Amino acid sequence: MYERFYGLSELPFELTANPKYLFLPAGQREALSILQYGLLSAKSLTVLTGEAGTGKTTLVRAALESERCRHVRCIYLNNPALRPNDFIRLLALKFDLGPESGESKPLFLERLERLLRERRAGGETTALVIDEAQSLGVELLEEVRLLANIETPSAKLLPLVLAGQPELGARLEDPSLRQLKQRVTLRCQLEPLGLADTADYMASRIVTAGGVASRIFSREAVTLIHEYSGGIPRTINVICDNALLSGMALGRKNVGRAIVVEVCRDLHLKSGREDVERDQAGELDDNAAPDRNPIEGASSSRRNPVRPGAPPIPLRARRMITE
Ligand SMILES: Nc1ncnc2c1ncn2[C@@H]1O[C@H](COP(=O)(O)OP(=O)(O)OP(=O)(O)O)[C@@H](O)[C@H]1O
Ligand SMILES: [Mg+2]
Repeated sequence: MYERFYGLSELPFELTANPKYLFLPAGQREALSILQYGLLSAKSLTVLTGEAGTGKTTLVRAALESERCRHVRCIYLNNPALRPNDFIRLLALKFDLGPESGESKPLFLERLERLLRERRAGGETTALVIDEAQSLGVELLEEVRLLANIETPSAKLLPLVLAGQPELGARLEDPSLRQLKQRVTLRCQLEPLGLADTADYMASRIVTAGGVASRIFSREAVTLIHEYSGGIPRTINVICDNALLSGMALGRKNVGRAIVVEVCRDLHLKSGREDVERDQAGELDDNAAPDRNPIEGASSSRRNPVRPGAPPIPLRARRMITE
């Protein structure tokens, strides 16, 4: 694709949880150590919340793959919108408790407790992580409470991590779930990245992909990307990926504000700032821009920009990726 054009060895803004791209500014580092602590010290329930795309799944995976948690055996569920019976069946399968224990909750709980005790006696911790936990209904959260109750007189046997969008936090406020809420021993909320962290995040990805960050995105472009993405890493990736593609189509090795504005308009993204909105509507004088870009030429060339002398490069459909 565009790697060679920008001197990169691979695509820097893919939406995969590739550990070598892990970026840990202060908030993320803190959340990671809370997750590790919750898994290791067998705290009964750890809750991680954050808006879509802020990096919850990325951090949960990083915690599970970390050296600190190498002795934790984990069952990871990321599609928990199930009926309670199916939830028990799924867990019976994942813990390898035999099909009959999936059909009877008492049998399931008894076998699970025995397994957890045996493993604990052998020095092993077993954890259950439920990602996308905002989609757990009240009934299923009640099942989760039963799991959180499994304990020896001195320790919890099944540390639980619930990761989900802010609705999860709201659901835990439901009076019918107060017992579960009381069992939450660790809690953290992931916030979107600030401007400086957005710039560092982009730079770290470009450097990891073998490039020189300052040569690729102008300072103004970075500021705009932060405005339009609201500091959400997933959205930053989508904007950057599209901007690099558009830049290549235009023969621009440096991505400036115009390309970012164009890309964000195509992605139907809105900036929090009014002047950026006006810019997007074409009301601001582009000539005043210090890093004016040819993308701001005639409307036909904006849609399918062509480098002089080069064959036309079709702009592919915008990569608005949902994971
Ligand atoms: N700390 C990080 N380091 C590197 N990349 C990150 C980080 N956080 C997020 N990303 C990037 O953003 C993408 C989205 O992050 P992730 O899937 O973890 O978000 P999420 O909070 O789990 O979203 P959702 O609520 O939709 O499940 C990741 O695939 C990754 O590319
Ligand atoms: Mg996720």
